[in-house]
Amino acid sequence: ETIYLKDYTPFGYKIESVHLTFRLHPTATRVISKIAFAPNPEATDKRFFLHGEELSLISARINGETITPRPVEGGLEADVPEVPFVWEAEVEISPETNTALEGLYMSSGMYCTQCEAEGFRKITYYPDRPDVMATFTVRIEGDQPVMLSNGNPLTAGEGFVEWHDPWPKPSYLFALVAGNLVNHPDRFTTQSGRDVELNIWVRPGDEGKCAFGMQALKDAMAWDEKTYGREYDLDIFNIVAVDDFNMGAMENKGLNVFNSSCVLASKETSTDANFERIEGIIAHEYFHNWTGNRITCRDWFQLCLKEGLTVYRDQMFSGDMRSHAVKRIEEVLQLRARQFREDNGPLAHPVRPESFVEINNFYTATVYEKGAEIIGMLRRLVGDEAYRKGCDLYFERHDGQAVTIEDWLKAFEDVTGRDLAQFKQWYSQAGTPRLKMSEEWNDGTLTLTFAQSTPPTPGQSEKKPQVIPIAVGLIGPNGDEVVPTTVLEMTEAEQSFTFDGLGARPVASVLRDFSAPVILDRAMDDDTRAFLLAHDTDPFQKWEMGRMLTKDMLVAMIADDAAPAETALDAIKTVLTDENLDPAFRALVLGLPSEDDLAQTIFDAGQTPDPAKIHAARKSLRHTLAIHLSDVFPTLGRQLETPVFVPDADGSGKRALRHALLALETLLDGGKAARALFARADNMSDQGASLQALLAAGLGQDEIKAFEKQWENDRLVMDKWFMMQVSFAAPDKAASTALALTQHPDFTIKNPNRFRAVFGALAGNHAGFHAADGKAYQLLATHLIQLDKINPQTTARMSGAFETWKRYDADRQGMIRTELERILATPDLSRDTTEMVTRILSA
Ligand code: ARG
Ligand code: ZN
Repeated sequence: ETIYLKDYTPFGYKIESVHLTFRLHPTATRVISKIAFAPNPEATDKRFFLHGEELSLISARINGETITPRPVEGGLEADVPEVPFVWEAEVEISPETNTALEGLYMSSGMYCTQCEAEGFRKITYYPDRPDVMATFTVRIEGDQPVMLSNGNPLTAGEGFVEWHDPWPKPSYLFALVAGNLVNHPDRFTTQSGRDVELNIWVRPGDEGKCAFGMQALKDAMAWDEKTYGREYDLDIFNIVAVDDFNMGAMENKGLNVFNSSCVLASKETSTDANFERIEGIIAHEYFHNWTGNRITCRDWFQLCLKEGLTVYRDQMFSGDMRSHAVKRIEEVLQLRARQFREDNGPLAHPVRPESFVEINNFYTATVYEKGAEIIGMLRRLVGDEAYRKGCDLYFERHDGQAVTIEDWLKAFEDVTGRDLAQFKQWYSQAGTPRLKMSEEWNDGTLTLTFAQSTPPTPGQSEKKPQVIPIAVGLIGPNGDEVVPTTVLEMTEAEQSFTFDGLGARPVASVLRDFSAPVILDRAMDDDTRAFLLAHDTDPFQKWEMGRMLTKDMLVAMIADDAAPAETALDAIKTVLTDENLDPAFRALVLGLPSEDDLAQTIFDAGQTPDPAKIHAARKSLRHTLAIHLSDVFPTLGRQLETPVFVPDADGSGKRALRHALLALETLLDGGKAARALFARADNMSDQGASLQALLAAGLGQDEIKAFEKQWENDRLVMDKWFMMQVSFAAPDKAASTALALTQHPDFTIKNPNRFRAVFGALAGNHAGFHAADGKAYQLLATHLIQLDKINPQTTARMSGAFETWKRYDADRQGMIRTELERILATPDLSRDTTEMVTRILSA
C-alpha cells in the first residue's frame, strides 16, 4: 500500500498519441479510447498495466482484435506485442454520482474534471503517471452548449466538438468541461506576436464577475514573458469557474478549472483579501504552463518541483503587482501558521517525501510553501542573475520532459559551478530548524554566533546541518544603517561571523526578509525591539519586532496575568500613526499573534497551553490597545477613507488599516461606528469587516440577519455568512453555532466550500474548537465520518484540524484520541482519511 520514491521505475511503453471520444450522459457516459503504444527501450519492466478505477469495461481491443484483459488491483493487465500496437477500450462511467469530485463529475449541472493527481484513472484505463506524456485529441459528443477540452479547437458540428493539444502532457493535465456556460472574452498578443483568445467561462449570471480575473490573467502572461522569458504556446486559453471543487484551482493545459471562489470577483461580493487571492491563484495556474506542464514531474514525489517553484513565482508576481514588503509579511504569517504548525506535529514530512499511501494527502503547506521558500533561498544564495540563467537552462534542457529535483538543481550547479549537495537537504529533511544567536561586542568588532538544530520528526530522528542564508544588516545607535543587508551563508552546526571597523555598537537586524524558514531564537529586550521597530530599513524585520513585542506581552499576560507593557503599546502607536508608512504595513503591525500561534509558543517553551486563558489574554490586550489608541481613531479613520472602491494595493491597504481600527473601536463604542459602516457599505470589504467587528465584540445579531436576506442567492457570499458566525462565536458557543448552521436549509455536506465554511471555521476558532467540554471535537469527527463516504479528499484534508493535539492537556488529548479512534474504526474508511488519522494518532 505504501509507495516509495526509491522504487521508481519507468513505464514499459511510450505513447505516440491518444484519441478519446466522450459520449456524455449524467449516469452513463461512454469513454472510447484509442492509444498508440510502443515499447519503451529505456524500461526493463515490460508489464503492460493500465490504471483504472470505478470503470465498467465494455470492450477492449489490441490492433483491432478483441481481447479480455486480466483485472488486477487498481487496474488491468494484458499481453501485448513487442512492437508498436494500438490499444482501444470503451468504458462507462457515471459523473452524476461521482461526489468525490475526482475524475469526471457534475457540478451545478455542468460536466467537469479534476485529474491531478490520480483522477484520470477514473475516466479510462491508462498509465496514469506523470512520466508518461502524450499528445491528446478529444472528441466530445453531447447536447451541452459549450464543450471544452485541452489545446486548440479542431472542428465542431451538430452535437460534437473536437480538440487537439499539440503539446505532450501527462494524464493529470487532461480536462473536459461541458455545460451551459457563458464567457467573458478577451485577447492577448504574446511577445513573439501570437494572438491568443482568452476566455473565462461561468454560469449565466456570473458574467459580471470576470473582469478582474481576466486582467490578472493578462498581467500574469505579460509578467512571465518579462521576468522569465516564458511565452504562452496555444491559440486559446480557457478558464472555467465551478462551484464544487476540492482545491483552489487546477492548471490543466489550456483549460484551467477554478473553484468559483478563486476566480469570481466583484466589489459587492468580494473582499480585498479575495481580490488579492484571486489575482495570485490565476497567476499561479497560468505560471504552471511552464513550471508543471511543459516541464512536468517524473513522479509524485517530485510534486514540489512544480508547486514550490510555481508558488515562488506567483509570490514574486503578487509582490510586483502590489507591495513586496506587505506580501512578504503575509507569506511569513501564512508559513508560520500552516507550515511551521505542520512541521511541528505528527504530519511533518520532507518537502520531497520519501513515501506515501495517498498522494492527495501531500498537497501540503510543506510541499507548497516550504517548497517556495527553498526556491527563494536558492535565489538568494546564487544571486538574481545566476537564478535567471539557471531557470533559462532548466527550461531549455528539460522542455517536454518529466523530471526530478536533481535535474532542477543540476541546472544551477552547471550555471554557477556551485555544489548544491548540502543545499539539497532542504528537500529531504523535515522539521523547522532552530537558529540560536548570540552576539559579542569587542572594540569595534561585532561577532554573531549561530547554532542550528532541527528537532526530530516522524521517521527522522537525526538531523544534519542545513545551508542557511542569513540576511543581516546593522543599525547604528543613532538609527542609521551602518551595514546594509549582507547574506551570511551558514553551513555548519555552529558558526560565527564578524563585522569589524564599527564605531559604536550597532543593533543587528537578523533574518531580514525572512531569508530562511527557521525559528530564530535571540535574546533581546523590549527597548532594542522598539528601537528596530522604529529604525530598521528592512520592512519584514520592522514588522517582526512589533510582532515579538506583542507576542511576549501576551505570553506574559497568559502566564501571570501581567499588565501589558507601556513600551510595547507606545512603540505600536508610533508606527500606527506614522504617515510615512504604508497603511497596509501599519495594519499588519496592529495585528496580534493568533491564538494557535500563542499555543504553539507556549508549548515550545515547555508549558501546556490553556486555550481559554489564551483567548482571554488576547481579548484583554485588544481592549487595552483599543483604549490606548482611542484618541487616534477619528483622525486616522478620516485619513483612510476610500470614497471609490479600487481593489489595488493602495485602496486595500487603507481599508485594512481602517478595518483594524474599527474592530478595536467596536470594543469601546457599543458598535456605533461599525453599524454605521455596515449601513452605508457599497462593497464587501467594508460590509464584511464591519459585520466581523460587530460579531467579534459579541454584537451584530440584526446585521447577520440582514446580511443573509441580502445575499441568500449568492453562494460565495453565503459561505462568508456561514463562516463568520462560527469564526467569531464565543468559545462556549462555537460548537453549538456550527451545529445549528448544519441545520440551515442552505447547508450541504456535498459542497466543499460550504463544508469548509462551517468546519474549517470551527477548527480555526482556537478556543472554541478546544473548548473543555470536547463538543467541537465530537461534532467535527461526526461530520468527517459522514463526509468520508462522499468526499475522501476533503475529509482527509480537514482531519488535519487535530494535528496539534499533543500540545494540550491530558483531558483534551484523551477526548481527541477518542474521536480519532472513532474515525479510524469507521467501516470502509477511505485510504485518504485512514492515512491521515493514522499518522496523526502515531504522534
Ligand atoms: N495543481 C493544483 C495547483 O497547485 C492543485 C491540484 C491539487 N489537487 C488535488 N486533488 N490534490 O494549483
Ligand atoms: Zn500549483
